[in-house]
Amino acid sequence: MEAITWLDDRIEIIDQTRLPWEEVYLQLSTYEEAAQAIKEMRVRGAPLIGLVAAYGIALGAQSIKTKSKEHFLAELRRMAEVLASTRPTAVNLFQAIKRMIAATQTGEDITGTKATLIAEAKAIHDDERQATRLISQFGAELIGNGFTILTHCNAGPLATGGDGTALGAIMAAKEQNKGINIIATETRPLFQGARLTVWELMRKDIPVTLITDSMAGHFISKGDVNCVMVGADRIAANGDVANKIGTYTLAVLARENGIPFYVAAPITTIDLSLSSGDRIPIEYRSPEEVTHVQGVPVAPQGVQVANPAFDVTPHRYVSAIITEKGAIKEPYQMTLSKLLDE
Ligand code: MRU
Repeated sequence: MEAITWLDDRIEIIDQTRLPWEEVYLQLSTYEEAAQAIKEMRVRGAPLIGLVAAYGIALGAQSIKTKSKEHFLAELRRMAEVLASTRPTAVNLFQAIKRMIAATQTGEDITGTKATLIAEAKAIHDDERQATRLISQFGAELIGNGFTILTHCNAGPLATGGDGTALGAIMAAKEQNKGINIIATETRPLFQGARLTVWELMRKDIPVTLITDSMAGHFISKGDVNCVMVGADRIAANGDVANKIGTYTLAVLARENGIPFYVAAPITTIDLSLSSGDRIPIEYRSPEEVTHVQGVPVAPQGVQVANPAFDVTPHRYVSAIITEKGAIKEPYQMTLSKLLDE
């Protein structure tokens, strides 16, 4: 199973809104289709949406018919803006778009630049694969034999187009023959935990127990969990972490009960331009995601709803951030900038 495949003139994705019931693959041939797939969360997860945007720009570039490089670049920037407007929180999306736009500086002529853009999108994909492989190895070092790990949302291969981050570490620990058990939170409102994490773990025969989000405190306080490990959508310069709504609650529970709270993320998730997490834009999604479950209403019609898709965990709760360059700890202000300088 590949979350995303480049097929020369289009990309193929697995439609994550249909999992785990059906394995449906979609072909995206235009930048508009790529943007739509991100918006509708057919693809999701911070690194993966960056990849889809990068390939989306490459696809869009091939369709521009002009002899003027100036016009070509203006058109490409317009397409990039459409892709950038799909989801606001995961910084990987903007990092990938920025890298694609920077790549237009090479290539002698428009034909050359079009080829360069395809090569750059593939290079971003390769870099993410390599990064998630290393994150998985470093993350696995923190997982002891016999551990029960609680994870939230989905930070597996489906979210990255590579090995996954938090779930990649869990899978690597299993490959090292460590006896591990996973507790997966269902992750309301869109059930990425129940639908995607459980699906990915069961395919790999990794023992997993599904709980509702509200059960986490019960199991953690009983001593049933050795650590919490999650992914991230954006990490600010001081180490504050934006991740799927409900992550902050888990971090506080971990601290209260004396277990480590680990965040696994590639360097493309770090945003040193934001001094702290309160500057991270939080996506608010449609009320129907809360009032309905798979199209079935679960609340009285007309109720007022709030639906933030992410929350911010203050850095003081984060025991370590696991990146492709290794795991770093407080003081994040220093360790994060040192990491990016290297
Ligand atoms: O709204 P989603 O499903 O895109 O949110 C995804 C998450 O919050 C993941 O935990 C995060 O992107 C890390 S992916 C390796």
